[in-house]
This record gives sequence, structure tokens and C-alpha cells, in this order.
Amino acid sequence: VDRRAAGAAPLGGRAVTSIGGFVDLSLDRTALLALLRGAGLVAVGEDPQVQSLTGGVSSTILRVTLRSGDVCVKQALPKLRVAKDWHAPTDRVFAEMDWLEAVGRILPQHVPRLLARDVERGALVMEYLAPACHLNWKSELLGGRLHAKAGGAMGDILGRIHAHSAQDPNTAQRFDHDANFFALRLEPYFVETSRQHPDLRDHLLGLVARTQANKHALVHGDVSPKNILLGPVGAILLDAECACHGDPAFDLAFLLNHLLLKAMARPVHAAALAALFTDIGQRYRRHITWEDPDALEFRAATLLPALLLARIDGKSPVEYLSETQRAATRTVARHLITSGPKRLNEVLAVANPPR
Ligand SMILES: Nc1ncnc2c1ncn2[C@@H]1O[C@H](COP(=O)(O)OP(=O)(O)O)[C@@H](O)[C@H]1O
Ligand SMILES: [Mg+2]
Repeated sequence: VDRRAAGAAPLGGRAVTSIGGFVDLSLDRTALLALLRGAGLVAVGEDPQVQSLTGGVSSTILRVTLRSGDVCVKQALPKLRVAKDWHAPTDRVFAEMDWLEAVGRILPQHVPRLLARDVERGALVMEYLAPACHLNWKSELLGGRLHAKAGGAMGDILGRIHAHSAQDPNTAQRFDHDANFFALRLEPYFVETSRQHPDLRDHLLGLVARTQANKHALVHGDVSPKNILLGPVGAILLDAECACHGDPAFDLAFLLNHLLLKAMARPVHAAALAALFTDIGQRYRRHITWEDPDALEFRAATLLPALLLARIDGKSPVEYLSETQRAATRTVARHLITSGPKRLNEVLAVANPPR
């Protein structure tokens, strides 16, 4: 019995069932049509246009053009498309469905609307966000367009999700995904990095244990600019496959890490990126009601250098830094790990100093 199927009551959508086994929806049109029909999204005889969307490494993402408009179908792949061998349990798509539904109730403007869930095929249907009016924040940042207003609001968005979920008694049970979080985040980032840096092993494995022990709120787990679209009403957060009841400091550090990496890649925008880093941190801090804000900031400040090093030597290395920039980032990250910063501004001062 799939407990998720029993609990499935999507907002405005219907649960769909089908025969088991992995069916790749990008290859099996019949299965895709059955899914859409079961969800009440496509009429009998309707023959929608289907387009594969690129960009994701872990999923099949389809744009389906229906008479009623476009929808987006996302299905988790059993193996991620990255260089190092990295298998991920496909049931992570259920964490994403639950996250979309939970956060859709808190901040409906900042997540795609969940339209249907297909438990058997491990797929979800959500609102399609047209690229013409939804810019990918990663591309924008690398192009030197920071969108500081919408970007700074990510501090409030994350803070509100964490604060709301921290006081929701259902979060712990509904997002009890420790194994997924370990397989998708802690192992490929920190455990892998500890293999490449044996002298930091105790520290990095200590962070793993500490993160696992701090269960406070609903963590997204992949708050990266590549998973943030900037639309007419602001930032929209995608890709919640790593969602877990866990340490909210992880999300904050994960996002801020991307701003440090962008500053390494684009020194000409480093000062503006530093200001954005500070803005997000300050705005986030105002929402911390579930614990001592200094305790959370301490965990974020210690996770951040480890995440920085993990994007150089972990299983998901950053692709936009030159060899020289990678080496410089490694040096800074190692220095920060050994110096033990307690505050985010201490990390910023070393990793993206005023120039
Ligand atoms: N609801 C959506 N509407 C439009 N495009 C989307 C939608 N969801 C995802 N995409 C596109 O697919 C890309 C990958 O999606 P994402 O959920 O991040 O998958 P992955 O887990 O493979 O990274 C996004 O960066 C975006 O370009
Ligand atoms: Mg993604």
C-alpha cells in the first residue's frame, strides 16, 4: 500500500493510478495520454502537442499543449544525468508533490500550481510557466542581471516557508524523507567531499550528523538560482525533490553559496552579489521564530564553506568556473572551514571581500 496514494488530495487535481513499473513518459505517449486523461486534463480524441524541455538533470520534463492551455509534466528519472555515478530513488517525486501542495497553501504565488499527481508512474502535472515571462535566475545572474528586488525577496520566501512549516504538526511525518535527503544532498555533497579531502573528514561528517539531528522545518533542499524563475509576480521556486523535514539552515546556506559562486565567476558583479547576500540573510533572519536566530545563523555559516568546497570537489561540481577560479574557490573554502566562522557576514568577508 502506498501511503502517499492514500493521502493524495491535490489542490484542484485528482490522483491517477496505473500499472506499476517504470514507464518513461517522454517515450511512451500512450502512458502520457492515459495520465492526462485520468487527471481530467485531456478529452477523449484530443491529440496534444508534447515538447521535451531541457535543463533538468534528474527528470523528464514535458510541456504539453492542451486545448485548455499548456501544462508541465515532470517525472523523476532513476539515474541522474551527471558525470559521477549518482542514483537517486524515483520516489523523490512524491516529496516534490507534497512540497508543491504544502507551499502552495502558504505562498501560492511563489510555486507552480499542482494540477495532478500520478502515483504509479511517479509523475506530477503542474502549471506551465512560459519562458517568455519567466526568466531563469541562474542565467540572469551569470549574465550580470541580478534582479536584486525579486532575488532579495527569496529571504522572505524561504523564511515564511520555514516558519510556517515549523509550527505545522504534520510537517515531520509528511516530510519524513531522511533517506532521500542523505542520498541526494548529504552524501553527494559532504560525504563525497570528505573522500576528496580526508583531512576534513571529521568536520564534514560532523556537519552531516548535525544537519540530520536538526529537525525544525520543511526544507526544500535545492534552493539554487537554476531552480528559481523570475515571473511577473516575483520569484517562483521549482524542483522540490529533496524536500525533507530537516535543518532550515541548509536552504539558507545553499542559496547563499550560489551567490558566492557567482561572485567567483563574475568578479565585476561581486559587490552587488555581496549586497544581495546580505539582504537575503537579513530578510530571512526576521522570520526565525522556531529557534534562536543565532543558533540557526551559526549552522548556516558553518554549512556554507562546506557547500562551497562541495561544489568544487563533490558529485555536482559547478560548471561555470575556470580551472583558476576553481582552485581559488577551493583555497577560500578550505581556509573558511578551518577558521570556523560563526556569522554569515564573516563568511562573506572572506569569500567575497570588498574589492
Ligand atoms: N512548471 C514549469 N513550467 C515551465 N518550465 C518548467 C517547469 N518546471 C520545470 N521547468 C523547466 O525545466 C527545468 C528543470 O526543472 P526542474 O524541476 O528543476 O527539474 P530537475 O529536477 O531535472 O532539475 C527548469 O529549469 C525549467 O526550465
Ligand atoms: Mg532543477
